Amino acid sequence: MKQLAPSILSADFGHLAQDVSRVEEGAQLLHIDIMDGHFVPNISFGPAVMKALVGRTNLPFDVHLMIENPDAYLESFVTAQTAYVTVHQEACPHLHRTIQHIKGCGVKAGVAINPATPVSILQPILGDLDLVLIMSVNPGFGGQKFIDFSLDKIRELDTIRNDAGLAFAIEVDGGISLQNAAAVSSAGVDIFVAGSSVFGAEDPGAACGAFQKILGE
Ligand code: DX5
Ligand code: ZN
Repeated sequence: MKQLAPSILSADFGHLAQDVSRVEEGAQLLHIDIMDGHFVPNISFGPAVMKALVGRTNLPFDVHLMIENPDAYLESFVTAQTAYVTVHQEACPHLHRTIQHIKGCGVKAGVAINPATPVSILQPILGDLDLVLIMSVNPGFGGQKFIDFSLDKIRELDTIRNDAGLAFAIEVDGGISLQNAAAVSSAGVDIFVAGSSVFGAEDPGAACGAFQKILGE
């Protein structure tokens, strides 16, 4: 089943738990964007804010670490609610070791690649992964436009996955909207991150419902 992961980056941080409760029914995961001001040119929030949501929602956390040296901070993002921790290939010189580190924490391991990073760079470690995140914008900010060639990268990754008989999930993040969700879905995506198109909507719960309708088709 396809899954929707609203990104709290576009939620109202002053009423975070309340905003999250509005997507509880229509989502399967909660996407948590961690930015350090070094790997990406923006700072979001740290583990304390994420931990404040533990027990305030039933949604499992999908943690997206846009930070340098993620190994130094992994444990602080592992909670009873953490399902996935995803690091960036571009931030991990010892990626295989980092993946084992994530798995050793008892959570699922994901690797994200930026728009300019080719899918082929992940080939040696695909068998170790639970999730591959194709960034469809340059990471750092919500509300950017979907980069069209991301669709080719998703199709390429889906073909590799099928040919190799692998089972990792394919996630897409950046510029996902009700307008492009169907095309992105048919390219092979399993998990859809949506920030501004959910939390920027008048009714985030209704926006989730509209996404679910498309993803279920
Ligand atoms: C961007 C973040 C995204 C962001 C997506 O760097 O990784 O998760 O919240 O926001 P939208 O859906 O508005 O592009
Ligand atoms: Zn993200």
